[in-house]
Amino acid sequence: MTTVKIGVSKSYDVLIGSGLIDEVGRLMSRVTASRRAAVITDDIVGAIYAPRLLTSLSESGFDAFTFTIKNGEGSKNAANFTAALNRLAEKGLTRGDTIIALGGGVVGDLAGFTASAYLRGVRFVQVPTTLLAAVDSSVGGKTAINLDVGKNLAGSFHQPALVVCDMETFKTLPEQILRDGLSEVIKYGVIGNEKLFEHIAEKGGGFDREYVVSECVKMKDGIVSRDEFETGLRRILNFGHTVGHAVEKLSGFTVSHGSAVAIGMATVSRAAARTGICSESCLKQIISAIKSIGLPTDNPFKTAEIYKAVMSDKKISDFGITVVLPERIGKCVLKEMPLDELKVFLEAGV
Ligand code: NAD
Ligand code: GLY
Repeated sequence: MTTVKIGVSKSYDVLIGSGLIDEVGRLMSRVTASRRAAVITDDIVGAIYAPRLLTSLSESGFDAFTFTIKNGEGSKNAANFTAALNRLAEKGLTRGDTIIALGGGVVGDLAGFTASAYLRGVRFVQVPTTLLAAVDSSVGGKTAINLDVGKNLAGSFHQPALVVCDMETFKTLPEQILRDGLSEVIKYGVIGNEKLFEHIAEKGGGFDREYVVSECVKMKDGIVSRDEFETGLRRILNFGHTVGHAVEKLSGFTVSHGSAVAIGMATVSRAAARTGICSESCLKQIISAIKSIGLPTDNPFKTAEIYKAVMSDKKISDFGITVVLPERIGKCVLKEMPLDELKVFLEAGV
């Protein structure tokens, strides 16, 4: 098992290994003396893994109940947020108790936001079951739900007390969902880890799971421990995400987060190459790595549509937006871009 300590204001461990889902109860005893917990999950993950998790909790003396949402991005909404809060209150969960997120990024974001709001904040444990959740969303404390106007527009920073990542759960992931996670891994490679990038470009779906998850989590620690609340450096993690969120929204969430981020990274990289920020060969490497894992690189929308959707991004401010640009594999820079410049830039990439 690999342990990565996340050095934010209230530090916590990310435990990465195999078979850990059966150990969650015992591991939770490290972070709480209370013996009550609520498990938030979705219908697919809950059906496969909730019985094992509940057994593990009960063996360690926990009295736990579940709240299950329908799987998919459409569930990360205000109605489920309110329903979850009501369920916790009806069950009498107290301030000392714990909410456990069992699932991918959708469950993690919704459960985290619920944990940050319920009784003004209760302890929260992440048990990520997708590659994307393991390498990114379960670590760093960003929680959110989507609003009608756009993605992740309501949320909070609420760090988990513990993250338990059982890589055996990836075995039941549909191939497309595993690929979505690899999109975020390519992101980590481009922004700061050439060796990791090369590993994915070479191995594709046959990547070394423990190495990849550990590298990404260590990188995430290196970033969020220096900029927990995204005032600067942490924005680097948004490489491909501004355009990606626009694509997700324009597609009515039929394009998955990972695929949309892949399109976003390709779009921004094309624009970076065309404006001389990175070389053509860097662009080629990024495009071919994305394609090699079976993810899309072509933007299906018009520049004007993307631009309009970007306008509802939460990262927009009066001056414009910060764009993450690749200079080479392993190095990205942040560039503050006024909105009129953004339009021209997007034109070059779309
Ligand atoms: P997801 O949570 O929707 O999971 C994808 C699908 O896989 C779902 O149908 C789910 O039921 C199923 N699934 C999950 N684990 C499984 C398993 N082990 N076996 C079989 N099926 C399984 O999607 P995701 O890609 O994990 O997360 C995407 C979400 O994460 C987006 O909402 C995105 O905005 C968010 N996100 C958040 C952050 C953050 O920092 N908070 C970072 C990146 C992404
Ligand atoms: N997923 C981007 C971040 O955590 O900042």
